[in-house]
Amino acid sequence: MDARSIILGLREKRTLSVEEIHWFARGLSDGTVSDAQAGAFAMATCLNGLGDAGRVALTEAMRDSGDVMTWDLPGPVVDKHSTGGVGDCVSLILAPALAACGAYVPMISGRGLGHTGGTLDKLEAIPGVNTEVSETKFRQMVGGLGCAIVSATGDIAPADKRLYAVRDVTSTVESIDLITASILSKKLAAGLETLVLDVKCGSGAFMGCASEASELANALVSTAKGAGCSTLALVTDMNSPLAPAAGNALEVRECLRVLEGRQDGVLLQLTAALGGALLVAAKLATDEAKGRSMIRAVIASGQAREVLAKMVAALGGPTDVSETCLPEASVVLEVQAKKTGHISEIDVRALGEAVVHLGGGRLYGGQKLDMAVGLSQLGRVGDHVEQGGPLAMVHAANEAAAEHAAKAVLSAIVIAGTAAPTPLILETVE
Ligand code: URA
Repeated sequence: MDARSIILGLREKRTLSVEEIHWFARGLSDGTVSDAQAGAFAMATCLNGLGDAGRVALTEAMRDSGDVMTWDLPGPVVDKHSTGGVGDCVSLILAPALAACGAYVPMISGRGLGHTGGTLDKLEAIPGVNTEVSETKFRQMVGGLGCAIVSATGDIAPADKRLYAVRDVTSTVESIDLITASILSKKLAAGLETLVLDVKCGSGAFMGCASEASELANALVSTAKGAGCSTLALVTDMNSPLAPAAGNALEVRECLRVLEGRQDGVLLQLTAALGGALLVAAKLATDEAKGRSMIRAVIASGQAREVLAKMVAALGGPTDVSETCLPEASVVLEVQAKKTGHISEIDVRALGEAVVHLGGGRLYGGQKLDMAVGLSQLGRVGDHVEQGGPLAMVHAANEAAAEHAAKAVLSAIVIAGTAAPTPLILETVE
């Protein structure tokens, strides 16, 4: 077997054998497969698909490309993962909240992918934080604090680590097979008992329409359950940015606002919904309403904030994380609405791309990010805006970059006479 013939087979729409897929995943982790071959494999998969059996084979092969962890802890081992969105910083709030509710959360996360932000990049916007920890430290943190948000160690799903970085810069993210294998290889290798998935749907998601998002949710749930992990998925709206900000440090700021009881918007609502569903599936709550109120209670009491602070300190950040330690951009520019009305449509992907072009995401492999840049004070579909009033704030490294992003924001947001808010949760797949 060799990479060229496997890629050729995929390109010519031949169904790959399980052995070929396993060979390719092994090649990703041991370096036999080059970046160029990984990119070609990703592109051919995006275009032609692997089929149901191929998707399961890639998921299992990438899971088994490294260690598969097992845990012996006095509570359920759970996690949440999103398929990727803009302003989606739920993980930074939910992991500590779940830990405060008695669950254990070994959260292996990703970096920014395409136009979407990544939890690890956001966490590393806090000065000193390094999410690349050893497995020993990961275990100590999960056992001692109840949660740890880390990058896959060299030993956990190394095949995904490589393919993920290649997909990020080769426009090969939007594939049900690749997203399923990427998410689940990490999650299954982390040894979870229960998983909730947030499958994003809309202009800022990898799956734009409801039927594609539903197909992805079903593929994720059936593949994970088939591998023995109790899993459910919520399909949720990504036609508006989830938090009112997009950009690494700006999103950490929003999380701190939620964790300090200073922000009670859709970010908290979705965090509680995902957490509530997960607590029920993990048998820590009797029904979803109870689960949601448990999440809200540990946030209101400050317990979740305390867990986040301890996790940040354990990852090398300040012992007293707060908004004041976050980097700030040198230029902040207000984008003003051209007319009075309601936001009727947002090209959320364009907002995410604007953040990438400001330097908050990667245009090439290994690019160093500017953690301070991004957009804040973003509205949602249905929000009222006044002519000359703020539509968004651009945080940039220089005036030219700020002007460029301001134009992108203006053309991404449509204002009409009236517009209704869109529902936040579209479907539950169990
Ligand atoms: N998150 C992941 O970890 N992988 C993807 O492919 C998409 C979102």
